[in-house]
Amino acid sequence: MLKAIILIGGPLKGTRFRPLSLDIPKPLFPVAGLPMIQHHVEACARVPNLKEILIIGYYAASELQQFITDMIQEYKVNIRYLQEFTALGTAGGMYHFRDQICSGNPDAFFVLNGDVCADLPLQELLSFHQLKKALVSVMATEATRQQSLLYGCMVRNEGTSEVMHYVEKPSTFVSTLISCGVYVFSTDIFQTMSTVFNSKQSDYYSDNTHNTKETSCIQLEQEVLMPLAGTGKFFAMPTSRWWSQLKSAGSAIYANRHYLHLYQTKSSHRLAKGRSKDNQDDKSCNIIGDVHLHPSASVHPSATLGPNVSVGAGAIIGPGVRIKESIILSGASIADHSLVLHSIVGRATQVGKWSRVEGTPCDPNPNKPFAKMDNPPLFNQDGRLNPSITILGCSVTVPSEVILLNSIVLPYKELTRSFKNEIIL
Ligand code: GDD
Ligand code: GTP
Repeated sequence: MLKAIILIGGPLKGTRFRPLSLDIPKPLFPVAGLPMIQHHVEACARVPNLKEILIIGYYAASELQQFITDMIQEYKVNIRYLQEFTALGTAGGMYHFRDQICSGNPDAFFVLNGDVCADLPLQELLSFHQLKKALVSVMATEATRQQSLLYGCMVRNEGTSEVMHYVEKPSTFVSTLISCGVYVFSTDIFQTMSTVFNSKQSDYYSDNTHNTKETSCIQLEQEVLMPLAGTGKFFAMPTSRWWSQLKSAGSAIYANRHYLHLYQTKSSHRLAKGRSKDNQDDKSCNIIGDVHLHPSASVHPSATLGPNVSVGAGAIIGPGVRIKESIILSGASIADHSLVLHSIVGRATQVGKWSRVEGTPCDPNPNKPFAKMDNPPLFNQDGRLNPSITILGCSVTVPSEVILLNSIVLPYKELTRSFKNEIIL
């Protein structure tokens, strides 16, 4: 029997995802029409013999309750949310809830970082783990030399696949092979974690300087994985499938595109079908490429959507509207003849007629092999906003006939004019 854990952090994390995470926990932000971590749940639910998914984080349980109920209904698998009393780090929560994880004696359990998006080869990773008789197996991918410094870097023995050396976010170059934050663990890992935990506790009690740091906090990468490198228990399985982190709003547009593309082979029913040329009475709109439309969204037949657009529940798209490479959240409305490009339009936001909402894509550099998304800071060295996708927070009002370019608008703003490269507070 198998289990899976999804690590979702809590309200203090995901700061780069603001303002989108102001009205919804980041792990529930919809990408390609599904809450971000539903893609993880779906991948886990496809693994044969996987009996339970435990979501671990420090969001209030009430924020996850509806999602959990929906997931149980949809995937017919046990799903529970285990709430940490405070941020316990990437392994502290797992250690704290070890009895729940080990109950029923799982043969192994998957651990997935909630803020990655990928075409997850979970079954392959499991087979790899069993073949290597590993304690920990991690999914790995290639990054550029420069970008590798932002991830967990590994030196792997080509013959045995063993991780010989692991450094979390090194300050100088170690390796272009990086951790994807997707693992399989054997339950014996709790013995290793227990050694880490106990040594931290004894440090705490022998230390006379009144330490206010949370002693139950354990960092998986620095405190568990780094010491395991070179011990014959830690293995890395490289994959060339699509994988990315989901840290910034810009990466949500990128993830949206890739998940929509995956629907072509895995769940084509989620992709909208455009107007059929042979049927004059067809009331559907023009669809280009991959588009997800919630069944309750209303789109005027003269609107053109795509490629790579997701439209949420109850959204209203007016006549002549053009939307490309964007996410339109539930209840938003885009009035007649407006254009939305490389943007995220928040929940219940209203865009007037003949307006233009446009951002700049921040995709990985296509000319660099293995390049990942850059998550540039909001401002450049001159103090100016880095060009990025345009984000409209929830319940924003954009009047008719304005242009919004590379801007971020915080929730509930009523705009009165055009803006370019600004954060509107
Ligand atoms: N439950 C819980 N409690 N989850 C947490 C906590 C915590 O205290 N802290 C972080 N997480 C979750 C985050 O929500 C995220 O899903 C995951 O753990 C990793 O979070 P970060 O600490 O932000 O690490 P990172 O994303 O910068 O780097 C990690 O992932 C990379 C791949 O995306 C590392 O594992 C890297 O080695 C790896 O390359
Ligand atoms: P992720 O995308 O989840 O990795 O979030 P992040 O990397 O943007 O968050 P990170 O944990 O690096 O923290 C970002 C910002 O949040 C920094 O400005 C921190 O000072 C602030 N921050 C982090 N932890 C705390 C905390 O416990 N309290 C407060 N008030 N701020 C915090």
